[in-house]
Amino acid sequence: MSTPRVVVIGGCGHVGLPLGIALASRGADVVLHDISEEATAMVAAGRLPFQEEGAQVMLDEALAAGRLRTTTDPRAVGDADVVVVVIGTPVDEHLNPDPASLPRALAACTPHLRDGQLIVLRSTVYPGVTAMVEQMLAERGLAVDVAFCPERIAEGTAMRELFSLPQIISARNDRVMARAEEFFSLLTDNTVRLEPEEAELAKLFTNAWRYLKFAAVNQFYMIADSKGLDFGRIQEALVRDYPRAADMPGPGYTAGPCLFKDTMQLAAFNDNNFQLGHAAMLVNEGLPLHVIKQLDARVGLAGKTVGILGMAFKAGSDDTRSSLSYKLKRILGFQAGSVLCTDPYVTTDPGLVSLEQVLADADVLVVGAPHEAYRGLAVRQPFADVWGVLKQEAPA
Ligand SMILES: NC(=O)c1ccc[n+]([C@@H]2O[C@H](COP(=O)([O-])OP(=O)(O)OC[C@H]3O[C@@H](n4cnc5c(N)ncnc54)[C@H](O)[C@@H]3O)[C@@H](O)[C@H]2O)c1
Repeated sequence: MSTPRVVVIGGCGHVGLPLGIALASRGADVVLHDISEEATAMVAAGRLPFQEEGAQVMLDEALAAGRLRTTTDPRAVGDADVVVVVIGTPVDEHLNPDPASLPRALAACTPHLRDGQLIVLRSTVYPGVTAMVEQMLAERGLAVDVAFCPERIAEGTAMRELFSLPQIISARNDRVMARAEEFFSLLTDNTVRLEPEEAELAKLFTNAWRYLKFAAVNQFYMIADSKGLDFGRIQEALVRDYPRAADMPGPGYTAGPCLFKDTMQLAAFNDNNFQLGHAAMLVNEGLPLHVIKQLDARVGLAGKTVGILGMAFKAGSDDTRSSLSYKLKRILGFQAGSVLCTDPYVTTDPGLVSLEQVLADADVLVVGAPHEAYRGLAVRQPFADVWGVLKQEAPA
């Protein structure tokens, strides 16, 4: 396939945009189709709607080379050889997935699809969605090829991982598999083939596995902490030169737009019978409550001003989606006198104040995300810090 014409539906999102930029950098002619007028305008003007390391330079290059443009017009899909669908697939407030969300988004474009196109589904989907899409397209009389090729990058490292992670490819037959492989060979030759139903589960298992691992460590942390013991010291000792524990992550708020919701998608798929997943949810979502309870017992929060350092869902990110820092803020809103929040990267929350103001006005601090700026920061206040990034200032 020489210089394929690609349309990415959901192309200005956290996954669609890095993918579009990466494909353009390898010579594809890319159109990012998105319903967000704000995001499409920003990207067209050369600005990233969110932080992604290394993406700005590559976006500038792609725009300058004329290989990337944006549109809100679904008719754009008609010009593509390959249509990639990567819209968001959240669970609702009752933790139910919406299997129809991806077929619905694609349906808006179907009047403009053409026979012979390759449709690559890339969102993390509820199992069975690939088959739903195949059926919907067949019912509309479209002779297109469908592949499900899940995205496995982590936000912040997308511009490296898109070229280095193995790409899972799935489709109904070898011909479509080969076609999808040829498309992804723009990014990597390291591909692995599965059936679509296997690939749908592979992606959910990937995220649920990470969620479970974090939950195990978070529970260890809470056990040690509630007994007055320093989990950091214990962990350091148990992993040292001990290969069988080398993959143990550190404790921390396990949040963000993927791990929790994909664990819940998997639970829903198994008739809500995923004991480990639900237990992991209780542990990970319970960590903020544990931290505040311990802090309250130690320093007494009533009437105090508490400062939260870091509102993004993880270090180095500006993404606040499903961030547990906001759960900390809610709990502290009930228990403390007032709450001040700060973050060096987040630009979407007008309620944030500067780090200087938090350090000046707060009586107590809680680390919500272990951003680089907080590493080794010496503070005068008592604090709660799951990651162990802050230092206590020596008393004068
Ligand atoms: N964020 C991650 O780190 C990550 C990693 C791997 C996989 N995923 C999966 O990728 C998918 C996308 O996630 P995301 O974080 O990029 O979401 P996002 O919300 O950042 O991006 C989705 C984009 O789709 C657009 N959109 C929504 N409906 C549309 C429609 N009908 N037509 C065109 N555009 C539409 C939105 O405006 C938005 O820009 C999800 O299934 C997610 O689980 C995410």
